[in-house]
Amino acid sequence: MEERRLGPVVGLGTWQTFGGDAALAGEVVGAALDAGSRVVDSSPMYGGAEAALAAALGGRRDRADVATKIWASSVEEGRDQFRRQLEWYGRVEIEQIHNLVSWERQLEWLEEERDAGRIGRLGVTHYAASAFGELARALRTERFSAVQVPLNPHERDCEREILPLAAELGVAVIVMRPLGEGALLRRSPSLGELAPLGVDSWPEALLKWALSDERVDIVIPATRVPEHARANVAAGSPPWFDAEQRRLVEVLAAR
Ligand SMILES: NC(=O)c1ccc[n+]([C@@H]2O[C@H](COP(=O)([O-])OP(=O)(O)OC[C@H]3O[C@@H](n4cnc5c(N)ncnc54)[C@H](OP(=O)(O)O)[C@@H]3O)[C@@H](O)[C@H]2O)c1
Repeated sequence: MEERRLGPVVGLGTWQTFGGDAALAGEVVGAALDAGSRVVDSSPMYGGAEAALAAALGGRRDRADVATKIWASSVEEGRDQFRRQLEWYGRVEIEQIHNLVSWERQLEWLEEERDAGRIGRLGVTHYAASAFGELARALRTERFSAVQVPLNPHERDCEREILPLAAELGVAVIVMRPLGEGALLRRSPSLGELAPLGVDSWPEALLKWALSDERVDIVIPATRVPEHARANVAAGSPPWFDAEQRRLVEVLAAR
């Protein structure tokens, strides 16, 4: 798999997949890591996902980079979330402020934790285009080195300001919802229609579409199916799509 600034370009999301089911988490996370993924994204907002992820990592913790989040309105609650994360993971490689919640309040203590080595890098996320003005303001402080936004043929708002700004500031880009939360998969084009793309499946085409934008560092598709986790990794190797192939994916996704 190709590697960019955050390592192998296909990671794993954990929203609404295994919840608190540690056994299922073990199967899915194991499949992704064995296939070559490294970054696993979670959040205190995802029910029991963080705890299940910790159990799933077990003795293979050193093979993963944990990207999780602080989702708290007060500093006290944020520190509590981080304390639990340290118990689960020992260290957090990518700590993100979830949906910009109280970001100015949380940033100072998170920087101290990063400077003490308990956090690798700080990031910030938002899922809604209506918040991208505030997200840009957060990035312009130059206190974040990662940003997480949605990018798929139906959600391209980040292309306007966030991706150019991230490129200008040297901020790594994590793509959430690369499969449109599954909505883009409801109708799959035929293998004949996919032939000009050189891919074996529609999910692979969608993941490659996002990764063919060189400003993107990683996509984090979520799945509860180990076979899907393995298949998604296939999208992480070149060749990447040219402009014409990207356009074809957009046309197929619009039907
Ligand atoms: N504000 C935030 O910070 C924020 C917001 C949203 C998401 N995120 C992060 O981004 C991650 C990804 O986004 P998402 O989970 O919303 O949506 P997504 O990854 O775009 O789509 C997930 C859906 O795709 C299906 N899928 C995955 N691989 C497949 C394959 N190879 N073949 C067929 N179906 C496949 C999954 O179903 P199966 O289980 O059947 O495979 C699931 O229904 C989240 O899990 C989360 O970690 C962050």
